[in-house]
Amino acid sequence: MRMTSKNSILEQYIAKTPGSQRLYRRAIEIFPGGVTHDTRYLQPHPLYIERAGGARKWDVDGNEYVDYIGGHGALLLGHNHPVVIEAVREQLAKGTHFGAAHELEVRWGEQIQKMVPCAQKVRFTGSGTESTLLAIRLARAFTGKKKIARFTGHFHGWHDQVAFGVSSHFDGSVPAGILPEVAASALVCPPNDLPMLSQLLDEHDDVAAVILEPTGATFGLVPLADGFLAKVRQLTTRKNVLLIFDEVITGFRVSPGGAQQRYGVTPDLATLAKIIAGGFPGGAVAGRADVMDVMTLRDDRDWNLRHRVPHQGTFNANPITAAAGLATLKLVAETDAIEQANRAAELLRDRLNDVIREVGSSWLAYGEFSGFHLFTNPQQRTVRLADIYAGAVPAEELKGGTPPALIHELRCGLILGGVDIFPWPGGVVSSVHREEDIETTARALKACLQLLG
Ligand SMILES: Cc1ncc(COP(=O)(O)O)c(C=O)c1O
Repeated sequence: MRMTSKNSILEQYIAKTPGSQRLYRRAIEIFPGGVTHDTRYLQPHPLYIERAGGARKWDVDGNEYVDYIGGHGALLLGHNHPVVIEAVREQLAKGTHFGAAHELEVRWGEQIQKMVPCAQKVRFTGSGTESTLLAIRLARAFTGKKKIARFTGHFHGWHDQVAFGVSSHFDGSVPAGILPEVAASALVCPPNDLPMLSQLLDEHDDVAAVILEPTGATFGLVPLADGFLAKVRQLTTRKNVLLIFDEVITGFRVSPGGAQQRYGVTPDLATLAKIIAGGFPGGAVAGRADVMDVMTLRDDRDWNLRHRVPHQGTFNANPITAAAGLATLKLVAETDAIEQANRAAELLRDRLNDVIREVGSSWLAYGEFSGFHLFTNPQQRTVRLADIYAGAVPAEELKGGTPPALIHELRCGLILGGVDIFPWPGGVVSSVHREEDIETTARALKACLQLLG
């Protein structure tokens, strides 16, 4: 009997990764769904990684992979960059947490001020989710208005105001555990729809801020139209609404000053995480001094109680993250790391499209900067790359259009060829991905497409 492609891929995957399968059997007895992050969920079991270096990582069975997860996008410089590791090692010897102010946090903050156009002031947080939560709260406190506006598919972490209309609940319904009144305070607008955003801001005079991913949902999986950022900036200024760029991915990938520097559009606030923290947990909100100063304690008890936004966080600006973050940002500012990653990603996208053409598939590899996305063409459209950038492909096909079963097969199929990608499906490229990594990836995709038939 002929095996189906699914059986063939999944059976080969199981045969290749017995150590991961054993660990997953233990994990499902501990963790809900067996995983510690939704993105790491993979059927029949996720990969368990033992070590990593540069652009590669190795699983518990000793298999080697070209890594396009890059620490969930945090590792622009690849795994274990020697300068970052040395900075962390030096700090480890001095102490991991002083529970106090320290010099490295000042230098790290100054470095951000130097690099990011909107960063008149900076506040460190523990993650990207904390950063968007804080930025939204600051916007509400500063403006005295209640609502936020955001775009369908744009991801801003997992807190209540941003956890729907991203990959599910597009119909206005509320995910389990989220208060309907909290959800109702977030207006969700289709991406690239300026007239609709304008209408929403006309209909609701209590919108504190518009928040968006400045290269489009999931690092350009759904690209933004040319000039869209500048138009949103003009509109929000005219309507007296704050503009927040969520630069958790784009900060330090798109340019040393983020998308705001690359596109010459300065938001009121920016949220940062991932690269800013050099591969360790951390994040920041940066922005206009008058807005950020709603966190400043005044000599005025009444103002503090009524207007101030309190902000704590055990690991804010902890010395280890500060050391890694500062070392990373200096490398980003002083070397061509971003261009190297961009060039490698461009070559990768080209090579993936070569093999897609060779096997006669209708898929496309696309993306900008150091990202790549695989359009699996669920409707079997006749599509060119330019159509994706021109907005001719519906957003829901670009993001969320691939059936989950195909994503599992694709990821497992690529793992067979020694490649690990995100389930969106796509990935991020680092400054240390080389031609041989890209060739391995092209070969893996070709073999996987042939197995998928
Ligand atoms: C654009 C964007 N915002 C916010 C977040 C949330 O960041 P974290 O996972 O650090 O909470 C992410 C994470 O992927 C992100 O990509």
